[in-house]
Amino acid sequence: MSPGPILSVRGLSVRFGALRAVDDVSFDAQRGHITAVIGPNGAGKSSLFNLISGAIRPSAGRVEFDGRDVTGARPDRMLAHGLARSFQITNLFFELPVRENLRLAAQFLCGGRGLLRPVAASRVALQRVDELIERFRLQAQADALAGTLSHGEQRRLEIAVALAARPRMLLLDEPTQGMSHADTQETEAMIRSLAGDQLSILLVEHDVDLVMNLSDHVVVMHQGAKLAEGPPQQVRADAAVQAAYFGDAAHA
Ligand SMILES: Nc1ncnc2c1ncn2[C@@H]1O[C@H](COP(=O)(O)OP(=O)(O)O)[C@@H](O)[C@H]1O
Ligand SMILES: [Mg+2]
Repeated sequence: MSPGPILSVRGLSVRFGALRAVDDVSFDAQRGHITAVIGPNGAGKSSLFNLISGAIRPSAGRVEFDGRDVTGARPDRMLAHGLARSFQITNLFFELPVRENLRLAAQFLCGGRGLLRPVAASRVALQRVDELIERFRLQAQADALAGTLSHGEQRRLEIAVALAARPRMLLLDEPTQGMSHADTQETEAMIRSLAGDQLSILLVEHDVDLVMNLSDHVVVMHQGAKLAEGPPQQVRADAAVQAAYFGDAAHA
């Protein structure tokens, strides 16, 4: 573990044709903190998320994770470094049982490192699966096909899948999107309980209230660029943020 922030983004940019979807964005995420990126629809949040997680390559800028330059590294390399992501678009195997979704993800714990023999590796993975089923309260659904779960349960399973390989940072893109009020509150509590010494969280989110309650640090994006950053209350009171974000939100 290196000193300093767990994640450091500097001058990150990506263009889609003439559109500057992410335009020279810089910020740090501190260890053990919940850092949130907010902004109106189209602000560039998911593009930023995709740049950090390695799904797309930046046209300029740099991403440092735990003191290491990981700019442009593919998602599987990012996961090997300890950075996991959960998508806005669901990425479960719907036709497989919950347990199997988790087992496939937990295999990553042992894969690539080549230290464990197959039998020992599968024991480690199965132990991790049991832990996750309990931790995410999926006992009753463990043998059900992922496609048959409720929306809220699927989002919970997605987060469990993302955590299977014991990452040090979790990237979440709108984890409560499309959820009922009850599921949203439950997810909020879960995210809060996950953050700590072992896990830092970067949350990309449209829902301002969720972010204000949950985050240690907020980065506001607008039209691809960083508009403001700071503690939640300070950001909420910022005049430029009020105009660009809350103004838009009020008319949405
Ligand atoms: N792959 C892509 N190709 C072209 N334009 C894109 C692509 N992905 C996103 N965009 C555009 O980039 C802008 C930012 O999108 P996005 O990052 O999804 O914003 P947000 O997540 O904040 O809603 C939008 O105008 C969107 O239409
Ligand atoms: Mg988005």
